[in-house]
This record gives sequence, structure tokens and C-alpha cells, in this order.
Amino acid sequence: MENSISMNGGEGPNSYSQNSKMQKEAIDKAKVFISESIIEILKLQKDLKVFSIADYGCSVGPNTFSSIETIIQAVQHKYKTQGPDLKMPEFFVFFNDHAINDFNTLFRTLPPGRQYMAAGVPGSFQGSLFPKSSINLMHSASSLHWLSQVPQEVTKEGSLKWNKGRISYPQSSNQVIEAFRAQFLSDIEAFLKARSAELAPGGLLVMLIPGRPDGTHPSESCMAHIIDCLSDTLADMVKEDIEVNCSWRKAEPANNIKV
Ligand SMILES: C[S@@+](CC[C@H](N)C(=O)[O-])C[C@H]1O[C@@H](n2cnc3c(N)ncnc32)[C@H](O)[C@@H]1O
Repeated sequence: MENSISMNGGEGPNSYSQNSKMQKEAIDKAKVFISESIIEILKLQKDLKVFSIADYGCSVGPNTFSSIETIIQAVQHKYKTQGPDLKMPEFFVFFNDHAINDFNTLFRTLPPGRQYMAAGVPGSFQGSLFPKSSINLMHSASSLHWLSQVPQEVTKEGSLKWNKGRISYPQSSNQVIEAFRAQFLSDIEAFLKARSAELAPGGLLVMLIPGRPDGTHPSESCMAHIIDCLSDTLADMVKEDIEVNCSWRKAEPANNIKV
């Protein structure tokens, strides 16, 4: 969905680059799991000259580069230990995000001395982004919980699923929660369908998605109170017509957006 929002660009105090430590923690915790999965599951291909990696929902900042570094180190290790007679391929990394993502900052801050070529691929990951069977390793961190849209029914006064003007759902009715769940299922299905066509033989898809234990109610999530508090604050600010400086944005070039 090309009119979607993206994270705040640049490297200033309100940028995603400077405000993504929580997401970095998720990436750091998953490092061992990702490396082990590559060692155990990825299948090395004979005569592969270029090993393609895609990061879906890369945003801007150190996190995406950190993920890519972990992946390349593990793939190189696998080649050295499990395929000593195979020639090490070159690495080509595709950074994907919405077209309004700050790709300029992303390219400007690519790590010096990196062992890969880089390209940006704009567009929604709920659709097709790459040729068939072309990506050897797919990665997505802290991005797949983003919905492609607010479920329409929750905004309609009079609908059983109306969310009464709220912009979060942990404290909402079961019907509202169900509407958000259905939207997630539809979005993740679209994502998986598109990736299944793009995945190269023997390839691997790694997804890090924030979640909560099975069987728990959304209000039991550790994020619920923060989200509800944020949601109430934003709603109050809209009522008072206050301009907010957010760490995400709706459209270029403004960092200041009216919520
Ligand atoms: C919280 S950031 C995560 C960035 C990075 N992966 C990390 O771990 O720090 C989520 C990113 O997903 C992107 N995103 C959300 N929905 C998307 C979609 N449908 N297609 C492409 N990118 C999307 C957003 O624009 C945003 O940059």
C-alpha cells in the first residue's frame, strides 16, 4: 500500500535510526537462532555465483545492517565448514521498504567495508517484489505486524465492530479484536504467498514478529499499557488540535505531522 506510513528518516534525534533500540534487542536476541537455522536448514547450491538476501521492511538505521551482517557471517561459515569444495558466492543484498522510506539515508549509511553489493527495492511486501526463485535468504524483523490497513469495519459507527474512535484494541470488544486478527491473517497470507514464489531452491525465510503467548488476551501483552496510553494521548492531542512530532511519518518531507 503505497500511501502507507514509514519510520522517520534521517539521523536526527527523532529519527528511527536513533529510536530503535527495542527492535535492536529483538535482533540481538535472535542472532543465535538465525545463525543456527542457517547452519541447519539452508541448503548450499552448487555453482551459485550470487547469493541473494532480502530484508523486508528494512527501514533506516543500524538494525538492518546488523541483521545482514549476522546472516552473511553464518552463510560464510556454512560454506567454509560444510561446502569446502564450493566456491564462496558474492553477496547481493536487497533492502525493501515502502517507497517513502528514507532510502537516501539508508544508502548513505551503508557500513564501510561491507562484503556485499546493495540495492533498494521499494514497494509493499504484501505483494510481489522479486523474480521467481531468486532470493536465497529472506529476512524480516519487527515489520510483519504492521497491517496494510485499518480494518474498515472498526471505523464505521453503527458496525458491531466499531472501535468507538479508539486507535488501539487491547481494551476493545472481542469483535474489534477479531477484525484486527482477520486483517493480520490476510496480510501475512499475502506476504507468505509472495515470498513462496520468490524463494530460491534450498532457501530460507526468517521472520521476527513481536507477539504474545498463545491463549493470552491482547490486554495481557506487555505492550498493551504503553499502546493504550499512547493511543489516549494521541486522541487527546487530535481533539486539542496539537501538532505532534512523531518518530514515524505519513508523507515526505515533513517530520512534523498532524495526527
Ligand atoms: C519497526 S520498523 C522495523 C525496521 C527494521 N527491520 C528493524 O528491525 O529495526 C518496520 C518497517 O516495516 C516497514 N513496513 C511496514 N509495512 C510494510 C509493507 N507492507 N511493505 C514494506 N515495508 C513495510 C515500515 O515502513 C518500517 O520501516
